[in-house]
Amino acid sequence: MKDELLDIDKKLIWHPYTQMKDFENRDILFVDRADGVFLYDNRGNRYYDTISSWWCVMHGHNNPVIKKAIKEQLDRLDQVHFAATTHQGAIELARWLVDITPEPLSKVFYSDNGSTANEVALKMSFQYRILKGQEQRSKFVSLERGYHGDTIGTISLGGVPTFEGPFKPLTFDSIRIPAPYCYRCPAGCTAPDPSDWTDLNGGAFSRLNCSLECLEPFRKVLSEQGATITAMVLEPLLMGAGGIIIYPPEYLRELASLCREHGIHLIFDEVATGFGRTGTMFALEQAGVIPDFLCLSKGLTGGCLPLAVTLTTDEIYNEFYADYSEGRTFFHGHTFTANPLGCAAALGSARVFQEDDVINGLEPRTLALQKGKEYFRDLKYAGDVRGMGMAAAVEIVADRKTKTPFDPSVRAGWQVYLKGLEKGLVLRPLGDVTYLFLPLCTTTAQIEDILHRTRETLEEVFAAL
Ligand SMILES: Cc1ncc(COP(=O)(O)O)c(C=O)c1O
Repeated sequence: MKDELLDIDKKLIWHPYTQMKDFENRDILFVDRADGVFLYDNRGNRYYDTISSWWCVMHGHNNPVIKKAIKEQLDRLDQVHFAATTHQGAIELARWLVDITPEPLSKVFYSDNGSTANEVALKMSFQYRILKGQEQRSKFVSLERGYHGDTIGTISLGGVPTFEGPFKPLTFDSIRIPAPYCYRCPAGCTAPDPSDWTDLNGGAFSRLNCSLECLEPFRKVLSEQGATITAMVLEPLLMGAGGIIIYPPEYLRELASLCREHGIHLIFDEVATGFGRTGTMFALEQAGVIPDFLCLSKGLTGGCLPLAVTLTTDEIYNEFYADYSEGRTFFHGHTFTANPLGCAAALGSARVFQEDDVINGLEPRTLALQKGKEYFRDLKYAGDVRGMGMAAAVEIVADRKTKTPFDPSVRAGWQVYLKGLEKGLVLRPLGDVTYLFLPLCTTTAQIEDILHRTRETLEEVFAAL
């Protein structure tokens, strides 16, 4: 019966980020059930969910605490519109979020996915300027290789050419500055031996031996156009979809202080880095920088249901707070804004974080992953090996000396995906960057096993390349 369903899938379904012709002569992976860090297919095969099902399953699948929270909520209130209406889950979740994020982040705007969390921040920053009589501040700055979602607004700020694809003509103009991509340093610095400059614990970088020349283009932008910029948007410390690029907190601190000097809002997109991914609850903690907007989704519900938030300050909020007739209302909302089931799942995840002391318990796991990934370094085509917290990545290159990538027609990442399945791993490389984004609950023994299987996968793929 399940095999027949696969035929129906091919007939009826168009999958995201998928060239459907790749599945002309092979079946798409039919995931039948999941438990903890494992996915099981329709034939009973078991796979490690090495990318946390698109970076969101923080406490593993089938988590009993989250499940219970959703079930109880389902008996009480499933959905209600959120304009001029509220419910207990949304209120309690807002209180927890304001508690665990730094002051002055004190207002919570709900939506339902990472792209919309960012869209909300963009629109709030933009409207704030109009309300303030600062219409000249209408531009946004973002990083090359940054990724903030797939809506037209967020691809206007994204810096991954593949995702922008043919849509460029639909986007609004924004300013891109080079990414702090140490392996391919935009300022031409030679990357030091990473074991020298990363904290193997997967936490903050211990030392920085460059003077952040890569920020020069930003300084130039500021001197020429600083007064026309409303906000800078970026993923703090770990740029996900652009290739798991990890950069030092010093960069973030310096960039933030330049933004402050020039009156520019900071929008932190922690959709991927939030909720423990980088070893702390939020990546911003490792740089000690507080943004004007903090965008969260993915891990917010422990990966069970779609939900997102944009946190901001009283200062921003108060600019919109006025008699209705003044026309200062923020006109943005989605059908499933603050969906009660989503909020219940997020509160379930909050309970797991608190009761299991998840963040404090991460250290042995992040250490196992960050130490273990070092063994990838001697693989034939491993150009760069990087990682922090519960993320690790290998950038595959055709020539390690020149850092030349393989011709895209080789599809090295796709080969890794297919081989990974044979090894019981659901890897989903980003181009030629193979990475692990493990659920926070992955045990050290499981991490060792995943590293071993990933190494075997890479060795076999490299031997055939
Ligand atoms: C940093 C970042 N921002 C935004 C998004 C978009 O989130 P969503 O896919 O929920 O729209 C993603 C998704 O991968 C992301 O990694």
